[in-house]
Amino acid sequence: MAFSSPVAKLDVDNGIAVLTLDSPPVNALSAPVRTAIHDGVKAAIDDPAVQAIVLICDGRTFIAGADITGFGKAPEGPTLQAAQNMMENSPKPVVAAIHGTALGGGLETALACHYRVAVPSAKCGLPEVKLGLLPGAGGTQRLPRIVGVQRALEMMTSGEHVPAKQCLEMGLVDELVEEGKLREGAVAFARKLLAEKRPLKKVRDLDDKMIEARKHPEIFAEFRKANARKFRGFMAPEHNIRCIEAAVNQPFDEGLKTERALFTELMNSVQSAAQRYVFFAERQVWKIPDVPADTPVVPVKKVGIIGAGTMGGGIAMNFANVGIPVTLVETRQEALDRGLSVVRNNYENTARRGRLTVEQVEQRMRLLSGSLDLNALADCDMIIEAVFENMEVKKELFANLDKIVKQGAVLATNTSALDINEIATATSRPQDVIGMHFFSPANVMRLLEVVRGEKTSATMIATAMGIGKKIGKIAALSGVCPGFIGNRILRARTLQAQAMLMEGAMPWDIDKVIYDFGLPMGPFAMSDLAGLDLGWFRERSTSSTIREVLCEADRRGQKTGAGFYDYDEKRNAKPSPVTEKIIRDFMAKQGATPRQISETEILERCIYPMINEGAKILEEGIAIRPSDIDIVWINGYGWPVYRGGPMFYADTVGLDKVVAKLKEYAPKLGADFTISPLLEKMAAEGKRFQDMK
Ligand code: 3HC
Repeated sequence: MAFSSPVAKLDVDNGIAVLTLDSPPVNALSAPVRTAIHDGVKAAIDDPAVQAIVLICDGRTFIAGADITGFGKAPEGPTLQAAQNMMENSPKPVVAAIHGTALGGGLETALACHYRVAVPSAKCGLPEVKLGLLPGAGGTQRLPRIVGVQRALEMMTSGEHVPAKQCLEMGLVDELVEEGKLREGAVAFARKLLAEKRPLKKVRDLDDKMIEARKHPEIFAEFRKANARKFRGFMAPEHNIRCIEAAVNQPFDEGLKTERALFTELMNSVQSAAQRYVFFAERQVWKIPDVPADTPVVPVKKVGIIGAGTMGGGIAMNFANVGIPVTLVETRQEALDRGLSVVRNNYENTARRGRLTVEQVEQRMRLLSGSLDLNALADCDMIIEAVFENMEVKKELFANLDKIVKQGAVLATNTSALDINEIATATSRPQDVIGMHFFSPANVMRLLEVVRGEKTSATMIATAMGIGKKIGKIAALSGVCPGFIGNRILRARTLQAQAMLMEGAMPWDIDKVIYDFGLPMGPFAMSDLAGLDLGWFRERSTSSTIREVLCEADRRGQKTGAGFYDYDEKRNAKPSPVTEKIIRDFMAKQGATPRQISETEILERCIYPMINEGAKILEEGIAIRPSDIDIVWINGYGWPVYRGGPMFYADTVGLDKVVAKLKEYAPKLGADFTISPLLEKMAAEGKRFQDMK
């Protein structure tokens, strides 16, 4: 058989040709891989000794999709469609043998085979939507034909990876074969096909599920309505839905044309560029130049958490979820009991929604123990302090921990603002002190800011990042500065939002702009949720800010039914005439005259100072790279992923425009505002953050 390839081998096993792809790390469909499929299958078809063909992969996974790194480059070699046609039109049965994950173009390749077998641990999915795309190699037309419209809608708009057993149930996979024996199983399956003279099943020709769907055109409108909130702002889900509609209403080849047109539209969109950027940013964020991958870590088998409030309890759940025992320490039994019962409630709510069994709830609760004595933490491998934000309290606590906790343990603080270097001075082991800043609710939010102090060792950084990964967080490394990466940038926005209140904008005007931009809520709705009285004391309150006046009027946020907004019993927010009057009176007292502020100004005044702060964070070396800042804002604050994060967004606006606008607004931005020299320099040189190395 005339076939050779740098990424594949072809051998014949008693009449069954086995084409094995081997292109690490994930057998993505690069030009050599597409060529290998096309030419390998052709060689097998041309060989009279071959009766059936198996397509299988070496390494960790079946084809995990198109080569994302190749997007935007000039196409080379045969198209994926040409390779698929070679398989689908083969006069000999072609069987895809799946392990790991068959994703995107990988699943589309398998769908162009006549049959599919998989090991039980395999998963299949069309995750293109997560990259702001749709399956562009026939997947939108083939998937609904095989699994039906409802399931295709769900799979393609969520990008979920579906376990092999479910794939079998819905017909996507024809047979499961024994784990670890994929090749033998696939070859045996091919022999069975031949023995039983099974037809060459082409998914493109299946029509029964389409006939069924044509009777229920309302399914699309219902699906759109049910998911409107989830899809808000994103282009790709709607484009995916339109392709499935085409699958129902158009002949296969017409449907392919619709798919191509909509795919091209998405591929050229800023949204997809942003989402692809985020895909790589999420993988970059783990890489720390001076902490190599082989840095030794502390094995974390037992965790101690100090403070069983909302934060401490939420943090504890992360560890219990992955089977790590936690000791929670409080100063009062009542606080401890309350903390543990909140955790139990959270788990029981999850169980009620069917996402945990009662037994799992109990298993997790058994991993949590409480104590009123710090000495209970002596043998923990990692301590996370989550008490209230007071430097003296924290220093005293760390001094005590230093005496109690075994040497070599990680001493972490969950502070969101305080100087970790100063906290570390309270111990004799500053190299072991680190920040692990969780975001509220800590059991839900994906972000973990790992904060390295001046003296924090590489081992502690590697351990904190590693445990972050283990508990399912995305961890971003920050240096020490007030607010670290996330809250420091938030502050830049808050200052402008507050300033605009004093110029005439109402909280809901500002919030609307931020919400429409794609964040889950604006700054004032966020303050109401957090509580306006955080750090407010009635006896010291002097009506010197709007917030103070609101608190004095007992408008302390959602919990009191009123804050910047008025809330009904279901906590729906309504603009408040009371707040409006408070703001107007406050302005009058200060002699300020309200003016009309445009939505454009609101947006630019909120966002551009954030970009400026991000640039300062980079020039000070607080963040390693711009994309880490974007990861923080996407995962900690709900920045819309389709806008790529504040730094990526700045690139799409143009850094020169950002700088020009900041200069124009400078007189309003506050006495302390300065433009970042790095931002100014990059703008002058026509550079982009995403090209920064
Ligand atoms: N193209 C290029 N590189 C890819 C890739 C792809 N499709 N998928 C993964 N990689 C790279 C990663 O960047 C990473 O590189 P690095 O080691 O240099 O950082 C390496 O492969 C390993 O990836 P992970 O760290 O993510 O490894 P995991 O084992 O955790 O996960 C995976 C493996 C589940 C396959 C995960 O990488 C993944 O989800 N990949 C993307 C899958 C995807 O989106 N496919 C659809 C692509 S679009 C498409 O197919 C269009 C088509 O319809 C025409």
